Amino acid sequence: MNIERTRIILEDLERTLLQFMRKHGITHDEYRCATDILVDSVKAGEETLLYDVFLEAEATDNANIDRRSSIEAIEGPFYLPNSPLLKAPYVLPQRCDEAGDVLFFRGIVASPDGMPLAAAEIDMWQADAEGRYSNFHPGVPEWNLRGRFRTDHDGAFEVRTIVPPPYEIPKNGPTGVVLKTLGRHFFRPAHLHLKVRHPRYKELTSQLYFDGGAYLDSDVANAVREDLVVQLVRRDAPRDQSVRGLHKSVFEVRYFFVLEPRPATHIRHRV
Ligand SMILES: [Fe+2]
Repeated sequence: MNIERTRIILEDLERTLLQFMRKHGITHDEYRCATDILVDSVKAGEETLLYDVFLEAEATDNANIDRRSSIEAIEGPFYLPNSPLLKAPYVLPQRCDEAGDVLFFRGIVASPDGMPLAAAEIDMWQADAEGRYSNFHPGVPEWNLRGRFRTDHDGAFEVRTIVPPPYEIPKNGPTGVVLKTLGRHFFRPAHLHLKVRHPRYKELTSQLYFDGGAYLDSDVANAVREDLVVQLVRRDAPRDQSVRGLHKSVFEVRYFFVLEPRPATHIRHRV
């Protein structure tokens, strides 16, 4: 962001906040209460959570205007780079008795004109059946339900995982205090997190929700968008009974990712 745009935005933010304080006759005690929430959020390690719950989806929407790719979604606070690179057939790392129904996630990665993109990398992470993320919540094996895999020569992919549940965001810190004051619940609808990459295209951060799922209309992060909702379809269990976990219900979701080309870069050749 250039310095002139930063100055214009800061001046408008100051003007807007001062108008807001005059409108509500904010007292010094109320002002100090507001600054204490920000300070407490830092002390509790929740400063990202506090902002993300209320503001991240709006910033994402702004970036989606005139986008030629699939729409972006919020990243959320639980992403970690460098998750395990999987080998086909792809199965997200999981415990041998991982709870939750089996989910086959299938899809295609393509360019805006429909050209399939081979060897695109899909970086996927999600909650376990208790709504917990590995490497963040205690008691979950490292890198559980996190992994990276690639599309085949037709731009297609398939990965086996579990159907995640809705989960509550942390509610015992300052973010919870604000949400309780507003009379809101703490749930996010069930979702899969994804990043899709290809050397010649812009990275896409996505998040997919299941049609008919709980909290779609009242997501605490207000991040559900129609284009991110997929059908969760029940399937017959594959005949390969050697694949563990297939005594459970089996579901499938599909998604068609479109990546936006990177701007052409000027390449200088030696003469
Ligand atoms: Fe999440």
